[in-house]
Amino acid sequence: KKRVVSGVQPTGSIHLGNYLGAIKNWIPLQNTYDTLFFIVDLHAITLPYETQQLSRATRDTAAIYLACGVDTSKASIFVQSHVRAHAELMWLLSSATPIGWLNKMIQFKEKSRKAGDENVAVALLTYPVLMASDILLYQSDFVPVGEDQKQHLELTRELAERVNYLYGGRKLKKLGGRGGAIFKVPEPLIPPAGARVMSLTDGLSKMSKSAPSDLSRINLLDSKDVIANKIKRCKTDSLSGLEFDNPERPECNNLLSVYQLISGKTKEEVAQECQNMNWGTFKVLLADSLIDHLHPIQIRYEEIISDSAYLDRVLAEGSKRAADIADATLNNVYQAMGFLRR
Ligand code: TYM
Repeated sequence: KKRVVSGVQPTGSIHLGNYLGAIKNWIPLQNTYDTLFFIVDLHAITLPYETQQLSRATRDTAAIYLACGVDTSKASIFVQSHVRAHAELMWLLSSATPIGWLNKMIQFKEKSRKAGDENVAVALLTYPVLMASDILLYQSDFVPVGEDQKQHLELTRELAERVNYLYGGRKLKKLGGRGGAIFKVPEPLIPPAGARVMSLTDGLSKMSKSAPSDLSRINLLDSKDVIANKIKRCKTDSLSGLEFDNPERPECNNLLSVYQLISGKTKEEVAQECQNMNWGTFKVLLADSLIDHLHPIQIRYEEIISDSAYLDRVLAEGSKRAADIADATLNNVYQAMGFLRR
């Protein structure tokens, strides 16, 4: 079976972008692939954070995975820091990563600019190397993510090829070794729609956990009233009729796409249905379909988060299974890199 891995950071609350760009797309993959979904807590400490909130946010994120339909009879859910191989492989990979590759990362540039010099940790720069470890440890074939992770996936692929070249494959063969790739080179799975959900208050910037105004995003756990209010107040334009793909109308395109994905309709159906609508009518339609879609997820979330023994068991089983796979890869890498065997 081919393997799929992906994860979300336990920072702030999970929003519609995380759901439509990633989590929702994980669900059908469980039926075809061997799937592992992690909560990347080690990534969540790369910017200043509240220590008292990290473990709670980690549990919340796991409960949201389950509530959204990750099924533990098919998939494994685990916490990144519970599988020590992630941090360990990162060190080994760091030695094979040219610093120039990291300096080019758009997310690093953006996040470090926002954080200000004093808050730019070394880990913010080396973050993509940890992400590459998350993926390469499992010999993953596919990684379902939103558009903003594309560059990190590209780096992961290049790094896999570089390590295969330096320590496996061709070079080893030349030296009379057994050869063979150390890592599988993974491919991103970026959805045709929903890969970049935009802010509700500005159709030109992406919906994000860190945007200061909560009005800019729909959180998966927002109540009915909060969702209705956010949609009511979201940015629109003064043109009549609604349409996709008009570059002059980024908000319009974004809200129609959200409606399309949440309602399960096709783009053509939505284009037709909404072409003569005014904003007032559409906003009610959108808010109602969001509320209907998220309600069952919220009910399941409440059940899961209140059963801490169940959640603990899911995470313990998940990390045990993950560690078995990860340790095998890690041992291989140590060996290929020439370390003394334990
Ligand atoms: P994170 O926690 O920022 O986001 C989690 C997932 O949500 C997607 N996403 C979006 N998709 C559409 N529209 C948006 N506005 C939007 N905002 C976020 C992200 O693309 C992502 O798929 N580095 C990763 C976490 C990570 C990871 C991994 C992912 C660490 N290791 C290994 C896959 C495999 C991150 O910070 O995602």
